[in-house]
Amino acid sequence: MPFLSPVDILLVAFACAPIVYFVRSRRATSNTPASTEKQGEPKSIMQSARDDLAPPKADPFTLDELKQFDGSDDSKPIYVAIKGTVFDVTRKRDTYGTGKSYNLFAGKDASKALGMSSLKAEDAISDYSELSEGDMKTLNDWHDFFSKRYDVVGKVIDLPPHAKPTSTSNL
Ligand code: HEM
Repeated sequence: MPFLSPVDILLVAFACAPIVYFVRSRRATSNTPASTEKQGEPKSIMQSARDDLAPPKADPFTLDELKQFDGSDDSKPIYVAIKGTVFDVTRKRDTYGTGKSYNLFAGKDASKALGMSSLKAEDAISDYSELSEGDMKTLNDWHDFFSKRYDVVGKVIDLPPHAKPTSTSNL
């Protein structure tokens, strides 16, 4: 193959620039909370909000019934409850399934751990009565995050009195 002259190299670079820009911008947006993200906010590694969620359901679950949806049985969905709202996170089995990073939240109401940003099993409980104001905000932000990304399939009916479902869950 003959050597390219400096002029040839410049021509090739100019010809490729639009293609490279297009591919890079597609990659940059594919991981961000799509159109709900405000202009100028940092790119997020979190999954985007969805616009294809099913209408929320209000099926009743006891904390004990929730346990079977912890990802240990591939034939069953995986549920995570936050402040009594039960979310179907099955499509993220690679995140919530057995042995995966966030399996400790699966099959239970793990409000306290989410509020505390804790990955300790002992914190993955529904009693969030001791959370600080800041941690309560974190917990409510997680509720909001899940509400925009996962179908609501029901509500926990036997939460202790301190942890009734939020008004935003409206179930
Ligand atoms: C070094 C610390 C951490 C790193 C590097 C990290 C990384 C990540 C990444 C990459 C994701 C996106 C995963 C995906 O979309 O599949 C994610 C999501 C998440 N993280 Fe973390 N994380 C950290 C700590 C924590 C802690 C302490 C908590 C405890 C509350 C937490 C809770 C979550 C939750 C609930 C999600 C949402 C998963 C979803 O999309 O449903 N993370 N994290």
